[in-house]
Amino acid sequence: MTGLPWDASYRDGPAPWDLGRPQPAIVRLASEGGFAGAVLDAGCGTGENAIHIASLGLSVLGVDVAETALAIARAKAGARGIEVEFAAADAFQLERLGRTFETVLDCGLFHSFDRDERPGYVASLASVTEHGGTLHVLSFSDDGPEIGPHPVSQEELRAAFNPSSGWDVAGIEPDRVQTRYHDDGAPAWLATIKRI
Ligand SMILES: C[S@@+](CC[C@H](N)C(=O)[O-])C[C@H]1O[C@@H](n2cnc3c(N)ncnc32)[C@H](O)[C@@H]1O
Repeated sequence: MTGLPWDASYRDGPAPWDLGRPQPAIVRLASEGGFAGAVLDAGCGTGENAIHIASLGLSVLGVDVAETALAIARAKAGARGIEVEFAAADAFQLERLGRTFETVLDCGLFHSFDRDERPGYVASLASVTEHGGTLHVLSFSDDGPEIGPHPVSQEELRAAFNPSSGWDVAGIEPDRVQTRYHDDGAPAWLATIKRI
C-alpha cells in the first residue's frame, strides 16, 4: 500500500492499515464466536487483532515477516498484560511452524499477493489448518465506491479456495476494512472458508 518493503512500512510511524485498534469486522466476528481452539493470525502486523482475540481467552500465535511490527506487537501485548505469542514466519512456509490451528485469520494479507502467488499461499494455509477448521479472510473488495488498493473479487476468492486446494467457501459477505485513509473504511469481503 505504501510501496515500501513490509518492515520499512512500520518504521516511520503507523502504516496506513495500522489503526492502533482491532478491525471492527474482526471484533464483531470474535463476538459472534468466530474463533475457537488454537488461533493463527497470518500477517498479524502490530498485533491488534491477535491481542483482541487473545483477550477473549484464546491461545493465539501471530506471525509476520516484519520484525519491527512484531516488536511493536510484543510491546503492546506486554503493556496490556495479555498473553499472545508473536513469531517471525513466512506465510508461504507456514508448515515450518510445525503446528496446526483450529482457526486462522487473514486480515489484509491475501489481497496483497499477486494471482500467481496465491496457490502457494493457499497451500501453506492448508498445511497448518486442522481439517474441519475455519479460515477467515478479510480483504479489500472490488465492489463499491472508493475501493481500496489490491481489490479482489468474490470469484477470485472462490477460485483460490476450492475443494481441489483443500477448502470449501462457506460464505462471503460484504464488510468494511478500516484504514487510516478511509473515514468509513473501504469495501471488503469477509470470507468464511472451511478446511476439508
Ligand atoms: C496490510 S498488512 C495487515 C496487518 C494486520 N493483519 C492488520 O490488520 O493490521 C499485511 C501484513 O502482512 C505481512 N506480510 C506480508 N507478506 C508476508 C509473508 N509472506 N509472510 C508473513 N507476513 C507477511 C506484512 O508485513 C504486514 O504486516
